Amino acid sequence: MKFLLVNAGQLLTFGGPSGPRAGAEMGRVGLCRGGSVLVDDGKIAAAGLADLVARHPDADKARILDIGGRVVMPGFVDSHAHPVFAAPRLKDFELRTRGKGYEEIAAAGGGILSSVDRVRGAREDELAERLGRWAARFIECGTTTLEAKSGYGLDLATELKCLRAVKRAGAHTALELVPTFLGAHAVPAELKHDPHGYVRRVCEEMIPAVAKEGLARFADVFCDRGYFSEPQAETVLRAGLDHGLRPKIHAEQLSRSGGASVAARVGAVSADHLDHAEPDDLAALKAAGVVASLVPAANYFLGLNRYPSGRRLIDAGLAVALATDFNPGTAPCWNMQFVLSLACTHLGMTPEEALTAATVNGAHALGLGATHGTLEPGRQADLIVLDTDDYREACYYFGGNLVSMVMKRGGIVHSDREYRA
Ligand code: NIG
Ligand code: FE
Repeated sequence: MKFLLVNAGQLLTFGGPSGPRAGAEMGRVGLCRGGSVLVDDGKIAAAGLADLVARHPDADKARILDIGGRVVMPGFVDSHAHPVFAAPRLKDFELRTRGKGYEEIAAAGGGILSSVDRVRGAREDELAERLGRWAARFIECGTTTLEAKSGYGLDLATELKCLRAVKRAGAHTALELVPTFLGAHAVPAELKHDPHGYVRRVCEEMIPAVAKEGLARFADVFCDRGYFSEPQAETVLRAGLDHGLRPKIHAEQLSRSGGASVAARVGAVSADHLDHAEPDDLAALKAAGVVASLVPAANYFLGLNRYPSGRRLIDAGLAVALATDFNPGTAPCWNMQFVLSLACTHLGMTPEEALTAATVNGAHALGLGATHGTLEPGRQADLIVLDTDDYREACYYFGGNLVSMVMKRGGIVHSDREYRA
């Protein structure tokens, strides 16, 4: 199927260098006024000035979609999410509304381990069905690619069940799911007194089994006080690398725990959270080419007055990505537009930087930088139409949804109106 999108009031192509956009490069969105996009066979055939695109030999064979002066841009690539869980954590939420803290609640029997109990009791098809329902919400808010971490199983059978649920859900939704193995999310209750034994299990049983079944592309670890130490995190990520799983890491979220330096040493694709990262950490991440992923919806939901400084990271020359961190404990949010708002109001980022972080750099944070995240010829045709004539409104309005149409791999997968010539 060929589509020719015409009359985009603003077309953001994010055309530019092939690597993650760092520092000042994050300010360039590739804006074209009155642009067109030709989509052919799931890919972008041409994007840019209407006259040029109209001259493409296939342009006259395409079905025309009149965008009516709205904004066209790449779909959001949400590079950090934990969408495989069985229930919200309303008890934790209530305790927090009464002033208790995240770590305090976890120590008292809530937190990650309470989600583990529910996931162990759920069937694979139930988890997949639930994930499919979340996927529809992500799509209608403009996300076309989503990371899906395991990490609420914490034993071999349940971690495999979660990743198989991701695969099963992925076959039935237009949302592209990128699986990450996060067995090292917390030490399960049954091994509370033997955390090293659990790390051994993760490395020697779980990672080989996950890799053998081809169930994950990345391995992740929660490196923080009360979870996994710097040496444990490095051990897990190196075991992942030995089995072809590229490293990602939860780093410096609750405390400065050494995760950023692990990320640099193992060549992680991304280091995520970074609330407590110090200048040395930023320098190490930059030198190692690690994408810095910020997930401010977690700070928002935990009621923290402190946010990671996107400005400081960008000024240090890093490539910053933004993600939802969708999960039942710290970020029950599927809407990247809310994250854009937080980036501009609390992280010191401009709308251009926030949009770059939510598209191109999100793609790089998932190792998909060559095919996703921009609207350049040859890229996967994952794009959205915003019901506005000014892209900055995607960062300005918050708590709502400006997405009018979503195209994934060249097919219209969501639309709130008929776009016709
Ligand atoms: O990214 N930090 C670790 N993981 C999640 C929280 C998980 C949970 O509380 O269920 C996060 O914030
Ligand atoms: Fe997370």
